[in-house]
Amino acid sequence: MVVTRRLPAPVEEQLAREFDAQLNPADRPLSAEELTDALRGADALLPTVTDRLTAQVLAAEPLRARIIANYGVGFNHIDTTSAKARGLVVTNTPDVLTDDTADDALMLMLMVARRGGEGERHVRAGAWTGWRPTHMLGTRVSGKTLGLIGLGRIGRAVAHRARHGCGMRVLFHDPYPPPAAVVAELGAEPRGSVDDVLREADFVSLHSPATPETRHLIDARRLALMKRGAFLINNARGDIVDEAALVAALKQGTIAGAGLDVFEREPAVTPDLLTMENVVLLPHLGSATHETRTAMGLRALDNLRAFFTGAAPRDRVA
Ligand code: DGY
Repeated sequence: MVVTRRLPAPVEEQLAREFDAQLNPADRPLSAEELTDALRGADALLPTVTDRLTAQVLAAEPLRARIIANYGVGFNHIDTTSAKARGLVVTNTPDVLTDDTADDALMLMLMVARRGGEGERHVRAGAWTGWRPTHMLGTRVSGKTLGLIGLGRIGRAVAHRARHGCGMRVLFHDPYPPPAAVVAELGAEPRGSVDDVLREADFVSLHSPATPETRHLIDARRLALMKRGAFLINNARGDIVDEAALVAALKQGTIAGAGLDVFEREPAVTPDLLTMENVVLLPHLGSATHETRTAMGLRALDNLRAFFTGAAPRDRVA
């Protein structure tokens, strides 16, 4: 098996115990050619979001691999249509990262509204002259209206935190909403369209998968529907937002700020964003805790173990 990136030690140890695993101690991303070679030479590939498994890579001949056990819940970096056509099983790692990713969305929301990043830079720069009533005032989060685009596992965990932790009103739009009882228990209010959520929310947080339908879902037109004082939060996938349109909206004051954990061309960040104080920029940290990154690895391992013992892997997505 080829493991494309360095993984937490307990996961690598377990993989090495159970499989003939080629690890990547240097943690250097594999090239397209190396990924193709891995599919030719190994029975399984354990990739991450930084590996682009395109139709071309998946056209590897002769193909030895039978399963791609992705380390991560999002799998938009894998051309699943091509994988299916090649008879490859694809799995992901849902559930185990839900809480940490929801915490990360809350962190972005609080940081951007309460000027956390800016304040930290201020103190580190030695610019702080002391407490004063008018210093670095931000926007209250508690009691405000949160609009969720997507009410899947992570969206629901954000809704729960926002409602019970910050007393927020929660609106959402999801073309495939959870059962009415789940929505009722969350106390979340459905809206018929993304646009309706954007018009009402003080904070808009994105929790949709990255698909052709959600690419640039948040574009110039939709940013213009948001309240002038509203904040956009994205820790789902970068290409759900048209980053150029977001930069323009921030420059024009169309919205108040943004908290971003993901970017359209990761790890590149549109340079203008780096200069904006009302933007919080994090390096794709959604699931980045010791606990979760280990759990993700063990979940990928469960999928591999099931597959190679002839059982159905629990997280099969293709
Ligand atoms: C996920 O699990 O989707 C993370 O964003 C890393 O891939």
